[in-house]
Amino acid sequence: MKLISLFLSAFRNIEQETLRPGQALTLLSGLNGQGKTSFVEAISLLSIATSFRTQRDDDMIAENHQYSRVHGIVETAPGSVRELAMDLKRSSGKTAWIDGQRAKRLGDFTGTLPSVLIHPGDIDEIRGAPALRRKFMDMGISMASRDYLGSLRELRTAMESKRAILSKVFRGTFTNMDRASLRAINETAVHPTWRIVKARSEFVSSLSATLGGYWKRILRAQGPEPRIRVDYKCFLSKSVIDSSESDLLDLVRRNFDESLKSEIDQGKILTGSQRDDFEFFLNNRPARRFASQGEARTMVVGSRLFLADEISRMRGERPLVLVDDVLTDLDRNRRHGLMECLAGTQVVATVSDCTALDRTGISDSIMYIVENGGLTLATE
Ligand SMILES: Nc1ncnc2c1ncn2[C@@H]1O[C@H](COP(=O)(O)OP(=O)(O)OP(=O)(O)O)[C@@H](O)[C@H]1O
Ligand SMILES: [Mg+2]
Repeated sequence: MKLISLFLSAFRNIEQETLRPGQALTLLSGLNGQGKTSFVEAISLLSIATSFRTQRDDDMIAENHQYSRVHGIVETAPGSVRELAMDLKRSSGKTAWIDGQRAKRLGDFTGTLPSVLIHPGDIDEIRGAPALRRKFMDMGISMASRDYLGSLRELRTAMESKRAILSKVFRGTFTNMDRASLRAINETAVHPTWRIVKARSEFVSSLSATLGGYWKRILRAQGPEPRIRVDYKCFLSKSVIDSSESDLLDLVRRNFDESLKSEIDQGKILTGSQRDDFEFFLNNRPARRFASQGEARTMVVGSRLFLADEISRMRGERPLVLVDDVLTDLDRNRRHGLMECLAGTQVVATVSDCTALDRTGISDSIMYIVENGGLTLATE
């Protein structure tokens, strides 16, 4: 899978521009505020149908414009290309297109261009709220497996219905029929929850098993791996990791049954995989409280390398890796270690200082200078 070209119109500070990434590393270099991240954001929009830096689609439309368009040509296999496009209309949301056909659901569009993003905000996953870590798990697993997205969607529908019924408790209109409906909804939630927990448990345990290796490769370190592990904190209990599939189904069902009375008493959902979390440990200490900034950064970068390999393994195609601003944050050795880990991968990386990366030894690398929303191919 390769991104062949990306055309942008009225996107952030970019009037009209076409980016033609190389086969391997494409560096976008330029001063602050010139549009480097905007190019990365546009690629990511074609991949995950949403921006990684704003929840308001209108923010991406260039000032004084009503419409914005991002169009990409992707080579899915040698000789076979797909066209992806996203139209943004001010105050009216977005429309996704695959090969000229309007995508009925954004979910159908997501993942056609698999990508992994490495950016400065990732570090919040170490110390920030559980929602950030769930987002990482969900994004990662759904890039690798489309079924997972279906389970999340099923569960979200069940939870919305459950929430609506529980809200009747406060309005004083809750009846015995509602109690029966809640039981029925819980039953529809059992299987998707089981699939989600199973996928997350497997995902986190593979991350835990491999993160030390990525750490070592980024540091180009010799000797033993550091003691790094990642623990899945499932809403059920820690024992899910060793449970058989039928035991896990029973655990989910029992947990839902046991929580129902308190949920009705309090008029809110008290259990479910929307409470899941995971935690990084470095030398047996929680990274959240003990890791240095550089250690935390290396862990999250390592977790992205894991994700890229996981997507390659599950889908049989290498995702595009987007690296925004992180290179200048890493010391020289780690920058090169990261690039070595990404050999054979199509990478689009931004740097505000073109000396941040010595490209010698990185085959097929190209560099664009980004200035005022425009691109110029840099000559060696
Ligand atoms: N909707 C918009 N319309 C016009 N300009 C915008 C819009 N949104 C952001 N900008 C501006 O676009 C410029 C480019 O932003 P971008 O984040 O891409 O810069 P950058 O090159 O990544 O900078 P840095 O090195 O500081 O990260 C900035 O000046 C920003 O204020
Ligand atoms: Mg930037």
